Amino acid sequence: MNSSMLKSTFSGGEIAQKLLERITSRSAVVGVVGLGYVGLPLAVEKCRVGYAVLGFDRNAIRVAQINQGSNYIRDVADETLAQMVAGGRLSATSDFARLVECDVIVMCVPTPLTANKDPDISYIRSVGADIALTLRPGQLVCLESTTYPGTTEEILLPQFAATGLVVGRDYFLAYSPERVDPGNKRYTTSNTNKLVGGVTATCLNVASDFYQQTIIDVLRVSTPRVAEMTKVFENTFRAVNIALVNELALLCDRMKIDIWEVMDAAETKPFGIMRFDPGPGVGGHCIPLDPFYLAWKARQYDFHTRFIELAGEINVSMPYFVRDKVARALNTRGLPLKGSKILMLGVAYKKDVPDWRESPALKILDLLTEDDAIVDYHDTHVPSFQDEHGRIRHSVPLTAKALSEADCVLITTDHSNISWDFVVDNARLVFDTRNATKTCQGQHRNVFLL
Ligand SMILES: NC(=O)c1ccc[n+]([C@@H]2O[C@H](COP(=O)([O-])OP(=O)(O)OC[C@H]3O[C@@H](n4cnc5c(N)ncnc54)[C@H](O)[C@@H]3O)[C@@H](O)[C@H]2O)c1
Repeated sequence: MNSSMLKSTFSGGEIAQKLLERITSRSAVVGVVGLGYVGLPLAVEKCRVGYAVLGFDRNAIRVAQINQGSNYIRDVADETLAQMVAGGRLSATSDFARLVECDVIVMCVPTPLTANKDPDISYIRSVGADIALTLRPGQLVCLESTTYPGTTEEILLPQFAATGLVVGRDYFLAYSPERVDPGNKRYTTSNTNKLVGGVTATCLNVASDFYQQTIIDVLRVSTPRVAEMTKVFENTFRAVNIALVNELALLCDRMKIDIWEVMDAAETKPFGIMRFDPGPGVGGHCIPLDPFYLAWKARQYDFHTRFIELAGEINVSMPYFVRDKVARALNTRGLPLKGSKILMLGVAYKKDVPDWRESPALKILDLLTEDDAIVDYHDTHVPSFQDEHGRIRHSVPLTAKALSEADCVLITTDHSNISWDFVVDNARLVFDTRNATKTCQGQHRNVFLL
């Protein structure tokens, strides 16, 4: 652990002491609010070490699914969830009055952007209001949603203070960002180290002891704002570096240099470099959104976050570049975009996940359709989805016929379950935005790379 991280020197009052006993003896009831990609794996993790877990969600379908032991998140094992529910250790509800039953409440609700790209913290506010209605002495509340620095103390703390209870004495409040990387087999909720920032020293101690029950390394920082800033920095770091390689890809395209060869070569340097790959743009719930939380907050301090804006501009432009490059690839065959059949492989925002939120593939599909191309897609991880015009689209089977009938096969997600040799051998023309075809045998004159 970094020497600047704060050490535990517990000196809480009687209420904190009792809560800690419940936490360490695993007799505490843990409430998880928001049972999505973050909340459900977390609920299962807490249950696995012996806590009784009560999940809260506004989505009645999800609540019913959990109570039937039916899993809907890939990172959770079906059997594990079913056993926990059958054993009575895990259940879900939409009755927020039951928050009073919980000793620890973890908030994992969405933090999207509004149409104007401003933070939409209405979910945090709404759950904060629900918690405040039943807040009682001896509860620990931890916010895990990604958000701008200041949210915990500027939004939640006043909501809870209005109850008359005193933070750090009666109840405890902390921010601890979730760092989960969906689909990552090596780093999961339990072995990814966790940051915790408490509103008071006692809040920090209670919260970090809670996380230490399930997580190998818990790093204490001085305030919730430091933890909030660190989390948005981590996602901004990715957004900016991806934008940097995307910009280089645009230049390499003009200079007729293979960007992938450059990335492979740069990676051989044993120090001072970290690999990021170019691609069709950024997607998911984090990288395209979170940096704008920081940019918005910065404006309150008369500060303009230029790296974030520039990275956003470049990453957002990538689907347009892909559309143009598909048109150029078709042009080599004497075909216009209008009327050409395009088979898009992958709508998930990254490989091997079923998440298509903010996926650049959606924008590309929309742009190609606008230019009157006829677009189908294949993605076994996303059997159907609603496109930008509200139309439900369904994945088509990946057959030799479907590949050979397409004027262009466009690789937008490099899922591991696809045989790229099969794709390249059967397609007439391939445009590969992920360098997925790098493993294909032999020279393929029908493949264009980003
Ligand atoms: N998905 C990721 O990879 C990831 C990683 C790290 C951090 N995060 C952050 O975690 C937070 C949650 O993200 P997610 O991907 O799990 O979202 P999600 O959309 O998968 O899940 C959110 C859940 O919250 C529920 N919900 C919405 N409003 C609610 C309310 N008022 N009360 C109770 N439940 C409510 C939704 O029905 C949904 O089930 C976000 O802030 C996100 O930025 C996500």
